[in-house]
Amino acid sequence: MNLLQLACVVGARPNFIKMAPLLRALGAYPQVAVTLVHTGQHYDAKLSDIFFEQLGMRQPDVHLEVGSGSHGQQTAKILERMEQVLRDGPAAGGSFDRLIVVGDVNSSMAAALAAAKLQIPVAHVEAGLRSFDRAMPEEINRIVTDAIADLLLVSEPAGVENLTREGRSADEIHLVGNVMIDTLRDQLASAQALNLVSEYGLVPGGYAVVTLHRPSNVDCPQTLRGIVEVLAQVSEKLPCVWPIHPRTQARLTDCELDQLLERASAIRCLPPLGYREFLCLVSQAKVLVTDSGGLQEETTALGVPCLTMRENTERPITVEQGTSTLIGGDTQALSRELDAVLAGTYKRGTCPELWDGKASERIARIVVGEE
Ligand code: UD1
Ligand code: UDP
Repeated sequence: MNLLQLACVVGARPNFIKMAPLLRALGAYPQVAVTLVHTGQHYDAKLSDIFFEQLGMRQPDVHLEVGSGSHGQQTAKILERMEQVLRDGPAAGGSFDRLIVVGDVNSSMAAALAAAKLQIPVAHVEAGLRSFDRAMPEEINRIVTDAIADLLLVSEPAGVENLTREGRSADEIHLVGNVMIDTLRDQLASAQALNLVSEYGLVPGGYAVVTLHRPSNVDCPQTLRGIVEVLAQVSEKLPCVWPIHPRTQARLTDCELDQLLERASAIRCLPPLGYREFLCLVSQAKVLVTDSGGLQEETTALGVPCLTMRENTERPITVEQGTSTLIGGDTQALSRELDAVLAGTYKRGTCPELWDGKASERIARIVVGEE
């Protein structure tokens, strides 16, 4: 049998969550062989290993161990090391037929560039999303990755519109749904079986979950201080749980905001949580306050209100149809929407079509050429 040799790349937290169901779906095809590459962009156990364990992912075949660095350093290391991996080909011999990348992190863009230069076709899962804000590093990654991918696998209709406007042909674009929601549907029951909410002294529907890690929110000391002050106000109305991303923790410490947080006793600061623990908390929360891309989608799928601390979003369906509201840095809007949540008058959303837990199966069918 002629094997279809695929290289699949992961590097940062959301990548693992998106790639896990795809690996499972591809595994159903005996004619497919996957080489799993971990770039090492995220390396802390709580940002990497725990997802492999909880999502039943096999260990990577290759680890590039690039670690942290500036955008240029990280991209350059991935590009150089990934080129070698692609040149070497699969362990069993032969060459790669296709590279698959997910999302918009540096690992996805750099690996795609390495493949495109070697004329290895690239599939991009979560193609076409645009915030139209080039100050956001992910926007550059999205544009570059889509420009060099030949298989554009899209999660929401806006992605199809953006790619069409950019001149991509209809036969390159496939609206397949959302792989992140495949994982959510797969894990929800086991996440909710955990006892975490009461362990933290909370009651279902009686707390907010916070996550923040975008440079635009956390890298500027003044902005970060303002957000912490706003969260302290939020916590007077509703206890908050905040699993803190290492980038944010480093900034909080640099800016000496730890003490301010300690005084806000209704904000419970935690290290980053495993997928299941986190989903357990989010799925029973009253509201999310976040700047995460993935969480705008997960809250929409769960029907949990999401106050998004960003000026724009590349995922407009989460605002138009889902439960997200763009708050940006507008503290009055935050307070108004939070009151609406507490009063039960906050908008209700519906789950987008094709966010049905089967996106990975649709992608696998396209990749193997069944569709
Ligand atoms: C990256 C992605 C972002 C994604 C996020 C998911 C890019 C440009 N950014 O942002 O799109 O939303 O991951 O969480 O690709 N660090 C650790 N331990 C780790 C990894 C990082 O302590 O395991 C710290 C380091 O100080 C590092 C900083 O976090 O410098 C930022 O890490 P990096 O991967 O560059 O960006 P993220 O903010 O994590
Ligand atoms: N997540 C997690 N533990 C946490 C915070 C987030 O498992 O402590 C999950 C979350 O459910 C979502 C993904 O991480 O599936 C989102 O990743 P992140 O916010 O880091 O990146 P983004 O989606 O913004 O690129």
